[in-house]
Amino acid sequence: MRIGILTSGGDCPGLNAVIRGAVLKGTEINGQEFVGFRDGWRGVVAGDIMPLERSDVRGIAKQGGTILGTSRTNPFEGNGGPERIQEMLDANGIDAIMAIGGEGTLAAAKRLTDAGLKIVGVPKTVDNDLDATDYTFGFDTAVEIATEAMDRLRTTGDSHSRCMVAEVMGRHVGWIALHSGMAAGAHAILIPEQKTSMEQVAEWVKSAADRGRAPLVVVAEGFTPDHADDPHSERGLDAFGRPRLGGIGERLAPIIEEMTGIETRATTLGHIQRGGVPTAYDRVLATRLGMAASDIVQSASWGQMVALRGTDIVTVGFEEALGRLKTVPQRRYREAAMLFG
Ligand code: F6P
Repeated sequence: MRIGILTSGGDCPGLNAVIRGAVLKGTEINGQEFVGFRDGWRGVVAGDIMPLERSDVRGIAKQGGTILGTSRTNPFEGNGGPERIQEMLDANGIDAIMAIGGEGTLAAAKRLTDAGLKIVGVPKTVDNDLDATDYTFGFDTAVEIATEAMDRLRTTGDSHSRCMVAEVMGRHVGWIALHSGMAAGAHAILIPEQKTSMEQVAEWVKSAADRGRAPLVVVAEGFTPDHADDPHSERGLDAFGRPRLGGIGERLAPIIEEMTGIETRATTLGHIQRGGVPTAYDRVLATRLGMAASDIVQSASWGQMVALRGTDIVTVGFEEALGRLKTVPQRRYREAAMLFG
């Protein structure tokens, strides 16, 4: 069996470990052959492939990014679609696709599988927001990076007696904010799932300052401020015409300063959270997922993806991964909030 691997959507630490796990298990145990598609679905539609042998994956588990490149190309747009892709697979002698990606990638993979293509999936999102898997690789690394950044923000905040606002990734959910905020001892964590008034935020900030602490506020990029005076509450579009995501930290800082009288600075961590070497936890998880993905190709489990349940790698249908966001439950937020202020 000859398998084409693609990585699609935003990159995240651990992608290379998945590729290595799949290629090593596949070539050594399952008797499979591999090629890589360059830049996600773009490479599939264009037939842009690269060799992926055992020697090509040597030592890559610790490398950030993806050796295959990635893009947000939709395989149904332009010249794409199931027939074009099947033709390209046939022309290159490729029997099956292993798609490593998030919700968009898996949704496309499901449509293509429904049309008869042989595809298996590996879930990927740094935001950890896929309901079908307990954790996604890349999340632990992002939390580690964000926590380290906040530890640094604390020391400069302490020196100047300032409130520091750290904006982290999390388009729809607040998992990175929750975990890094708890780890760094934040005095307030603001996430999209939890409506929080600015009065409440100001109270947490003042209470931390009253106890002689430099307040630390962590905000997920998808948080919407519930404040009438926020002049930018309409997010609108960014300079490229895409829905605006980041910038919430910068918007909150002056409001917090005005409401508390405490000088406030904001820092947006942005793509730093997706760069660099994966943690050991992410390398192990990603490697196990890649190995399991080779196995589900071997058992011809088309339309299935691998997932983590507890400490076990299991198999679930694409449909289970789609349309259901894994949000931060109230009880987890309340638990963290007990330590605020
Ligand atoms: O979905 C992962 C994510 O990192 C989000 O947290 C963030 O909003 C988005 O991707 C950024 O996307 P891009 O890399 O395309 O700017």
